[in-house]
Amino acid sequence: MIRQVVRLRTFLSRVVNWCLGIIGYALVRTTTTSHHVALRRIEHLGRTYAYENVVILDAYAPWAVDDEFQSIWALIERNTLVDILRGYELYQVVRESADLPGDILEVGVWRGASAAILAAAARRWMPEARIWLCDTFTGVVKAGEHDSHYTGGEHADTTVGMVESLLGRMGVTKAQILVGVFPDETGAEIANQQIALCHIDVDVYQSAADIVAWLAPRMPCGGILVFDDYGVSSCKGITRLVDELRESGTWRYFYNVNKHAILIKRSSPSLS
Ligand SMILES: C[S@@+](CC[C@H](N)C(=O)[O-])C[C@H]1O[C@@H](n2cnc3c(N)ncnc32)[C@H](O)[C@@H]1O
Repeated sequence: MIRQVVRLRTFLSRVVNWCLGIIGYALVRTTTTSHHVALRRIEHLGRTYAYENVVILDAYAPWAVDDEFQSIWALIERNTLVDILRGYELYQVVRESADLPGDILEVGVWRGASAAILAAAARRWMPEARIWLCDTFTGVVKAGEHDSHYTGGEHADTTVGMVESLLGRMGVTKAQILVGVFPDETGAEIANQQIALCHIDVDVYQSAADIVAWLAPRMPCGGILVFDDYGVSSCKGITRLVDELRESGTWRYFYNVNKHAILIKRSSPSLS
């Protein structure tokens, strides 16, 4: 009897949420620490992608009391496509990379905000590292069959000057901008550098795959890749690539439900 009542309640909440979803609302029960509504399953090129609206109540929010991060965020938030959860994770991941040998690389800079977070964090925790910032400045490249939304040329609404001016306002002096498709056109400029940490925010499968292939031999054990847009429904190519890399056994995989995937290079490939 109790099971039937629970099933009926679940069914009714799905129906209500389906209706509310049409106008952009959802019913959320506030007595639990998290609640899931509106499961969607999408098949794309032989893989199943599941999506739910997850509301996390009473979330631990260290970014809210981190004054230094808040002052950085206030300067950059209007220049970025990432939210504060991902912004704070980028900031913290630099701190976690402090004992790794090598530089910081970002591919997919757009207007420079995530780059500015990385550079500001590096000034504090990785003062020896150089920051390499790579973008075409003419938008997304290499969109292809694995990608669900992007066709190429998106996010071209930026300039090198915009990035330089943001970095200048933040007092960042150690970052260097490389203009062109990475690694095809600019990889040779840093071919001898070791890379401890890379933020990959390029939206499509092949672009990200080429970056990882270039990076893998240049990263130390424990080297960190942060992928933006993991699991985002308009970026199925990125989700697919990260899942394939995970299956390769070369990387440890972490997904923290914030549209980032983090891969950490293993000391030796896993057999499982
Ligand atoms: C979503 S935007 C980056 C957003 C940025 N990280 C932020 O703070 O909001 C994606 C960028 O990736 C760049 N891009 C995509 N593929 C690239 C590649 N292979 N080499 C260089 N830039 C690339 C595009 O030009 C675009 O500016």
